[in-house]
Amino acid sequence: MSSRHYLTELDITTEESRELLSSARRLKRERGKTDASRSALTGKHVALYFEKPSVRTRTSFTVAVQELGGHVIELSSGSTKVGKGEHEEDFAKVVGRYVHALVARVFEQGKLEGMARTAGIPVVNALSDDRHPCQALADAQTILEHKGRIEGIKFTFVGEGNNVAASTGLLLAALGAEVKVASPKGMSVKQDILAAAEGLEGSLVALEDPLEAAHDADVLYTDTWVSMGAESGAEAQRKALSAYRIDDAMLKLAPKAIVMHCLPAVRGEEITKEIMYGPQSAIWDQAENRLHAQKALLQWLLSGA
Ligand code: CP
Ligand code: NVA
Repeated sequence: MSSRHYLTELDITTEESRELLSSARRLKRERGKTDASRSALTGKHVALYFEKPSVRTRTSFTVAVQELGGHVIELSSGSTKVGKGEHEEDFAKVVGRYVHALVARVFEQGKLEGMARTAGIPVVNALSDDRHPCQALADAQTILEHKGRIEGIKFTFVGEGNNVAASTGLLLAALGAEVKVASPKGMSVKQDILAAAEGLEGSLVALEDPLEAAHDADVLYTDTWVSMGAESGAEAQRKALSAYRIDDAMLKLAPKAIVMHCLPAVRGEEITKEIMYGPQSAIWDQAENRLHAQKALLQWLLSGA
């Protein structure tokens, strides 16, 4: 039987996403209280492979696997020869003989596709330059908790339209949200993301004006101005994005909005500290939900539950 993978948020159907979200919410309520979830991954091993830094993804996956009764093996790119001689497809083929799932954070999305071709086990995207589908699941869970629904909500992302904007935007559009991504020229969501949004239950549009996009939003979301691996262009990024900060002036345009950020944040750049810690912030619940959403995902991929 061929394995299911989670390389993009659209690798699973909208119905399956809804089921995962309901399972994530149940797992959150029942954390530590039921034997069923404590043994879902008994006897299973999960490898985590990181080519870029991580706090939330690394910690939440490790705790998720362990709380479900499984074991984690962590591999960083510094401790392997992947990309420095060994091809990622060969690496994944071997790792797939030992463990039951491979969770990988890489630069190129294509590397994940190569791993998925050879691994023979489920491969999960723990962030690439183009996508961050595990973040998207936790984001959807957070919006459900705070707003009670996703269908019809006005979701606005301000900032660079790369991995997080693409994955969270597409998953929410699949679940019926009206998504706007406001970015400076040249930093907009890519054409393939806009094309993928066509035909989804909701919508995803790209625009330039951050204040127009923020007006009356139910959710205001931002991401770091300088993504991992893009540090050499940091100054140009900061300059281009200076009007995209979530600050009091922007928040006034969306008085009922919750504010979200995938973290890590640079306080005072893309968002102010006061808003991160303010009454409209859902940021800390959002970070916590990585744990619950990934538990639901792992359980579904590895035990079909
Ligand atoms: N949001 C997120 O993926 O955080 P890390 O980079 O710390 O894993
Ligand atoms: N766009 C950010 C997301 C971090 C979770 C990055 O790629 O660094």
